[in-house]
Amino acid sequence: METIISQNAREASRAAGSAVADLVRNKPTAVLGLATGGTPQRLYEELIRARREEGLDFSRVVTFNLDEYVGLGPNDSRSYHFYMWKNLFSHINIKPENARVPNGLAADVPASCAAYERAIAAAGGIDLQVLGLGENGHIGFNEPGSAFDSRTRVETLSAQTIRNNARFFGGDEKRVPRHSVTMGLATIMEARRILLLAFGDAKAAAVAAMIEGPVATKLPASVLQHHPDAQVFLDPSAAAALKRARFA
Ligand code: F6R
Repeated sequence: METIISQNAREASRAAGSAVADLVRNKPTAVLGLATGGTPQRLYEELIRARREEGLDFSRVVTFNLDEYVGLGPNDSRSYHFYMWKNLFSHINIKPENARVPNGLAADVPASCAAYERAIAAAGGIDLQVLGLGENGHIGFNEPGSAFDSRTRVETLSAQTIRNNARFFGGDEKRVPRHSVTMGLATIMEARRILLLAFGDAKAAAVAAMIEGPVATKLPASVLQHHPDAQVFLDPSAAAALKRARFA
């Protein structure tokens, strides 16, 4: 894992955003894996800027989002589908049919998860996966205890994730859905390149455990130690608990 500590979250997002933009420039048919939440918002601003100022072409890009809440549809402002259109897709020239988000309303959830996996494979696999990091070490909604060979499936949110995400539901934990559909750890690990971003001191312990701790399912992101091309973009607060940061 390569660790890049920038002066602040803006610089880190700029660096990660340039890496995504470079890929799209060099491979106009790139397949991107995307995350939601607070962390990647500035990265998406970078991509929107590249579209606006340089005309970066997303017309042949295909994207697959990591996860979606079970029970929330695309028109629900709290769904990840809605988030993606608000924060990225409606500002770039991606074709709607190429912007895929797991279906939180599927009648047959296992069939829908299997179809999502098939769609990723049919697109040629993910070239670059963008990840955030949960305070409990989750990636996607793969909560502690998720199997390393897990694939797209329903996952139950942990109490900590419900607490952390209540801010997107008017601060009310009771309104946070209990289940999500998420790509699995094996799905994520198959991406050819991974960029994980983490900012702020609330992420410091999970960042240190991910990079310097044992590879263990109790901290799902630690599996990234086995990925051949994973880069971690941090601000100084998120890097604060790293013991070997200067050697990174
Ligand atoms: C979101 C996702 C989650 C978040 C993580 C961090 O699609 O997959 O793993 O990346 O919960 O969330 P933020 O960025 O809001 O701190």
